[in-house]
Amino acid sequence: MKTSTIVALALAGAAAMLSVGSVHQTATAQMTDWGPKWTSDGKLQLPTGYREWIYLGSPLTPNALNDGKAGFPEYHNVYIQPQAYKIYKQSGTFPEGTIMLKELQLVMESEEADGSRTEVSGRGYFPGAYNGIDIAVKDSKRFAASNNWGYFNFGHHAPPYAETAAAAPTENCAQCHIDNATKDMVFTRFYGPLNN
Ligand code: HEC
Repeated sequence: MKTSTIVALALAGAAAMLSVGSVHQTATAQMTDWGPKWTSDGKLQLPTGYREWIYLGSPLTPNALNDGKAGFPEYHNVYIQPQAYKIYKQSGTFPEGTIMLKELQLVMESEEADGSRTEVSGRGYFPGAYNGIDIAVKDSKRFAASNNWGYFNFGHHAPPYAETAAAAPTENCAQCHIDNATKDMVFTRFYGPLNN
């Protein structure tokens, strides 16, 4: 055999091994890398890096428009885990393991009775300090009883948030989503990236 042929064969072999390795890694990654992480007693671990996930939007229900006592007077910054987003965009379905995360962010201190203030861009509402996290996870085995989604509160206060959370009772969270959400328990009607 010519040296050049041997080199070519060796390279082809190495390439085949590399690609087998990466297929294996992809399969493993889908099982463990992006889905929810659970403690041994079934609590959800707070995901890391979620502020780099796909940002879906920030519904706002300010105190001034809710008799001074909105349940959640903050911006509700909603994120979806990126692999779940990719699958949703291809299939129109939230895959098993989807994590939806809502981080609350206070409105900056007001200067007016309506809660607004004036900044360079004009009078309005401006995002201030972070103030809590709620999460929803799709898992049809764990949460069959609440339409395949579990709901978790990691604190309604400034960070640091709780590191783990147990699933909330259906009546605290899931029921309102069952009754009112747009699609498969998610309020997709507010989230431009899911609709366009
Ligand atoms: C009274 C109804 C109601 C209850 C109770 C409720 N939610 Fe929601 N949730 C909403 C609405 C409406 C939205 C849409 C965005 C917004 O306005 O915040 C939402 C959005 C979310 C989202 C973003 C993804 C999505 O489904 O649109 C998460 C995560 C979430 N809620 C978690 C929770 C958790 C955890 C609890 C319980 C601690 C809870 N929710 C209780 C009404 C409710």
